[in-house]
Amino acid sequence: MGYLTAVILAGGTGTRLRPLTEKLPKPMLPVLNRPFLEYTLLALADAGVERAFLALGYQPDSIIEHFGIGENMGLHLEYYVEEEPLGTSGAVRSLLPELDETFLVLNGDVTTQIDYKTLVDRHTENREYGTLAVHEVEDPSAYGLVVTDGEGFVSQFIEKPQGPNSRSNLINSGVYVLEPEILRFVPEGFSMFETDLFPKVLMSGIQLNTHKWSGYFNDMGTVKNYLSLHRDLLNGHAPYTAYASPQKGINTHVDPTAILEGPIILGDETRIEANVKLVGPLSLGARCIIRENAVLESSVLWDDVDVGSGSIVRDSVIGSGMTLKADASILGETSVKSS
Ligand code: GDD
Ligand code: MG
Repeated sequence: MGYLTAVILAGGTGTRLRPLTEKLPKPMLPVLNRPFLEYTLLALADAGVERAFLALGYQPDSIIEHFGIGENMGLHLEYYVEEEPLGTSGAVRSLLPELDETFLVLNGDVTTQIDYKTLVDRHTENREYGTLAVHEVEDPSAYGLVVTDGEGFVSQFIEKPQGPNSRSNLINSGVYVLEPEILRFVPEGFSMFETDLFPKVLMSGIQLNTHKWSGYFNDMGTVKNYLSLHRDLLNGHAPYTAYASPQKGINTHVDPTAILEGPIILGDETRIEANVKLVGPLSLGARCIIRENAVLESSVLWDDVDVGSGSIVRDSVIGSGMTLKADASILGETSVKSS
């Protein structure tokens, strides 16, 4: 594929993941005990991307501190931090001086099985201003709906379509290959690919191409999807499984009377006490203590969580440092420490 630059949009406020994103930006949310963005960067590096710009806004510091110049990710990282949100296309526009060749844009919260080489080849065949990766879903309402003509060119783009829509079930996968020239259509200040740029480009008669792919897709921007990403990774159904951490961390302790069923990951120094029942898919962070008789099922616990004896936790996400008192019942909840 040669030398390719990617821009990763990772500046959003993660509203739909609150309260998980109150103290951590979405790209830093742990997924099987690694910041989510690590998976994306490793996958891009594996696909031959050598340089990535992270377009940041909300809580950028922890991201920059963690990733540095990308030394552990196999590609070179640079950052652009917005003082005010510039929107998806506004953020890319601000990088224009750095972008002089075909480049890749990714929403920073998606996990896909897109073959980047095929996507770039498809784009290069026609040399349009842009090629959007699209895939089919049953319900497009949470996404950007893409209507194409017979040859696969975009004829309409409707972000978050309301009501029944029989025109298409193709959605924007949040991955584009673009030519720098398209950024001429982006005004200064705030603007969105989805609601400003794509409609405007189409109105002006310029063609946008699509690359239709099929396979795994997850946008971890909601708690439901964040949990399902864990489930899919633990079940070996998601493409980033190869980058996931080992099943069992170091110095874990599992009491011999505990019952463990299904796929489970235990972080370093986590302790499972007597008669605990763990039912996967389950991801436990480092230094968690699961006290006697507790039952945990289909959940994600971050680091340093103390689960009181006899508690039940199911379909929930528990943030770092939380203490659950004895016999607590946490069903379908998302909680983080408030102070
Ligand atoms: N730098 C920067 N600045 N990044 C931003 C900004 C901004 O002002 N606003 C959003 N982002 C980033 C988010 O952090 C996220 O990684 C990405 O842009 C997309 O924003 P979301 O808020 O996650 O959008 P969405 O999930 O509702 O919809 C988007 O993704 C769908 C695929 O998952 C759209 O692109 C849809 O068309 C698409 O189908
Ligand atoms: Mg999203």
